[in-house]
Amino acid sequence: MASDLENLRLSLAEKQAAVEKQGDVVRALKASEAKQSDIDAAVSALQALKLELHNASKDYAALSGAANGNVSNETFRKEVNNTLERRFFIIPSFQIYGGVTGLYDYGPPGCAVKANVLAYWRQHFVLEEGMLEVDCPCVTPHVVLKASGHVDKFTDLMVKDEKSGQCYRADHLLKEYCKENLEKDLLMSTEKRDELKHVLAVLDELSAEELGAKIKQYGIVAPDTKNPLSDPYPFNLMFSTLIGPTGLLQGYLRPETAQGIFVNFKDLYYYNGTKLPFAAAQIGQAFRNEIAPRQGLLRVREFTLAEIEHFVNPDDKSHPKFKDVADLKLLLFPREEQMNMKDPVPTRLGDAVAKGVINNETLGYFIGRTYLFLITLGIDKLRLRFRQHLLNEMAHYACDCWDAEIECSYGWIECVGLADRSAYDLKAHTEKSKIELIAREKFTEPKEVEKLVIMPIKKETGRFFKGDARKVEEALEAMSEPEAMEMKERLESEGQVSFKVCTLNKDVTINKNMVSISKTVEKVTGRSFTPSVIEPSFGIGRIIYCLYEHSFYTRPSKTGEEQCSVFRFSPVVAPIKCTVFPLVQKKEFDARATELSKQLTRAGLSCKIDTTGTSIGKRYARTDELGVPFAVTVDAEGVTVRERDSKEQIRVPAEEVPSLLKDLCDQQLSWEEALTRYEIVGGTNTV
Ligand code: ATP
Ligand code: GLY
Repeated sequence: MASDLENLRLSLAEKQAAVEKQGDVVRALKASEAKQSDIDAAVSALQALKLELHNASKDYAALSGAANGNVSNETFRKEVNNTLERRFFIIPSFQIYGGVTGLYDYGPPGCAVKANVLAYWRQHFVLEEGMLEVDCPCVTPHVVLKASGHVDKFTDLMVKDEKSGQCYRADHLLKEYCKENLEKDLLMSTEKRDELKHVLAVLDELSAEELGAKIKQYGIVAPDTKNPLSDPYPFNLMFSTLIGPTGLLQGYLRPETAQGIFVNFKDLYYYNGTKLPFAAAQIGQAFRNEIAPRQGLLRVREFTLAEIEHFVNPDDKSHPKFKDVADLKLLLFPREEQMNMKDPVPTRLGDAVAKGVINNETLGYFIGRTYLFLITLGIDKLRLRFRQHLLNEMAHYACDCWDAEIECSYGWIECVGLADRSAYDLKAHTEKSKIELIAREKFTEPKEVEKLVIMPIKKETGRFFKGDARKVEEALEAMSEPEAMEMKERLESEGQVSFKVCTLNKDVTINKNMVSISKTVEKVTGRSFTPSVIEPSFGIGRIIYCLYEHSFYTRPSKTGEEQCSVFRFSPVVAPIKCTVFPLVQKKEFDARATELSKQLTRAGLSCKIDTTGTSIGKRYARTDELGVPFAVTVDAEGVTVRERDSKEQIRVPAEEVPSLLKDLCDQQLSWEEALTRYEIVGGTNTV
């Protein structure tokens, strides 16, 4: 089905292109005042192509719905969320007081899944890449976030319902308007279609005035009340607070964890033996006072981030382990393809870096590692793509950015941001704190470098400029190389030049005998520089939510009367690795089950014992809903082990159960292999 979906996606893109091309033909004919009959023929060809596009997009919507068990996105989402809330994976916070939008609690299975995802993140990134982990406070003083630019720039543009005061994100309203109209109105003119697509492409770049103008032009009103909207204005997303009882020290709850790493750069660099490259990592809570949180766990006001700051020499962004990921083929969506309304294509990472589509090996390496991390968790690789930021979308300091986007019932969602942030943050903190956050490179052999030497002849300048002499001398010394070389040339040819001294706010005349300008050659053994940083930033809540959707399915109960929900979690993320049941309530079975569960826990496997008298079928269904991969049942003949998705069972000697389950959960042994080792039995009460 997945490849059918891919084919449909491709054919949809082709049909879209054909419509656009035919639109051009019609326009050209009209512009050249061609024969009316030719124009009519071209227009009817265009209508036919639009109809084909309309049908293809219906087919695509139907088939992509089938990925969710043939139900609409809304129905599927409701089923997933009902199960998540009923089994206490997640629940809106402070519910007994009515709750607060954008805040969620994780219940026991939700906590276990999150702990597993984070443990695997630590394993995959911190341990396997030898990263330096830090843990910094959430409460951050003003000066840090002023230096990083968050105080001035961490804003979203907001509009208010002019009557009710309800707030909305201006770009979200415009985006929804464009998307809805593009999807619904397939027979809209090509000009209008192009305009809406253009608005979508430049959305992140629009100023408050431009956004406001578009909202007015399209007649966009408050979605809930249809009231008119205010003009957009910036709203800072940081929660502010006061540190200490005096109320004098302004602070904020951090909106990202990265700044904690940057301000510790110097110590991290020394800890690492003053060697580059190295990476530091931090897992922690981040806070953003989102204007209109929606989409459940996807946009919340407090969330867990796992961030990596990989510091490199800006002149050498190669990565020694890039070859380990170079052969991975993943869905890449470079900006070119987006601008030309094409679809993402499976691309070999090695080729993308070699062709310069991805800026450098280190960024490419992290894209590959992120892909492996996500698919190991259980994200469907056909619904995972890496989208490059458009030029206008990138922060001004970044030189290349890619988002790992996962498709779920809400559409494609950014879950990981991978940015080459250049030297921006370290430079900003160096400037503000006056502490040099730099690295030193020692050359393998000393290098000869040309150095500019500007020497004011103080006897002459003092005599001539008197009290202004020092300012003139400083201005001369501060000249850039081209300025100095130009002055030297003119002094040699003309004997004097006019020179602007900013600190005096006037021009002065410099004579040939007032300054000596020359170049010398020096031997240097190394250089200091501000490292560049490559930052993969993981939104853990978003990843977990997409994982819930990608893992969820329903199947009929044994009687066929109801649908049972199942999470097909891999053992890596499953909240509980196995359940242990006595087949029926019997003292002897209970005692053996309790003993087995003790042994399993001792082997490091989280397990849950269920000695309720409920039918075994119902007990299986309950654990399937929690995504428990294996169920161990104690009966008169011994022990059976059941696998959740196939519902197959094998009979296993009791003493082998802990080691077998350990191997299965550590993925040292597949279920298929286990089937060949043990007797397969038919479960009597299998749901
Ligand atoms: P968006 O454009 O969706 O607001 P962003 O581009 O501001 O996100 P980043 O600043 O790049 O996001 O944050 C890094 C990661 O943090 C994102 O990839 C996302 O997974 C996560 N994230 C950001 N905002 C939220 C939020 N409000 N709720 C949950 N996760 C979030
Ligand atoms: N192993 C018991 C059953 O499923 O019937």
